[in-house]
Amino acid sequence: METTLTILKPDTVAAGNAGKVLALLEEKGFTIRGIKVMHLTEDQAKAFYAVHKERPFYASLVEFMTEGPVMPVALERDNAVAYLREVMGATDVSQAAEGTVRALYGTSIERNAIHGSDSAENAAIETAFFFSTSELIAAV
Ligand code: RTP
Ligand code: MG
Repeated sequence: METTLTILKPDTVAAGNAGKVLALLEEKGFTIRGIKVMHLTEDQAKAFYAVHKERPFYASLVEFMTEGPVMPVALERDNAVAYLREVMGATDVSQAAEGTVRALYGTSIERNAIHGSDSAENAAIETAFFFSTSELIAAV
């Protein structure tokens, strides 16, 4: 079993799609190890996406991620990191495969419904960004 980190982004929470996205992820075999709802500060959003700080979309991304509440979720499943990337779909919603979270609930390349860790190493770092060990159900 592997753990990965998703964030239901502000567009998803504001639209009232959080429950539907969580249901889809559970249908795909993910188990929730930890979940919270929070409003990211500018510093938190900047730190979380620091890898993109030189990119032209960084300022806009930080503004988007702080516009309303988000829901970080630690998810467990066999092959969780790679499979979440598959289930969430391409970054640009117009390129996202039918049935993926982003195709169903995203609206643009930026407002694309959810985040997903891109490697096992980043999954561990990103899970620890939001959750202490005591806030996570023990891994199987
Ligand atoms: P994420 O990190 O949120 O899971 O998304 P990702 O791996 O599919 O895409 P990434 O390249 O890491 O970009 C992070 C987020 O930045 C926004 N973005 N905007 N306007 C643009 O060209 C653009 N490109 C990326 C998206 O919200 C993307 O998910
Ligand atoms: Mg990324």
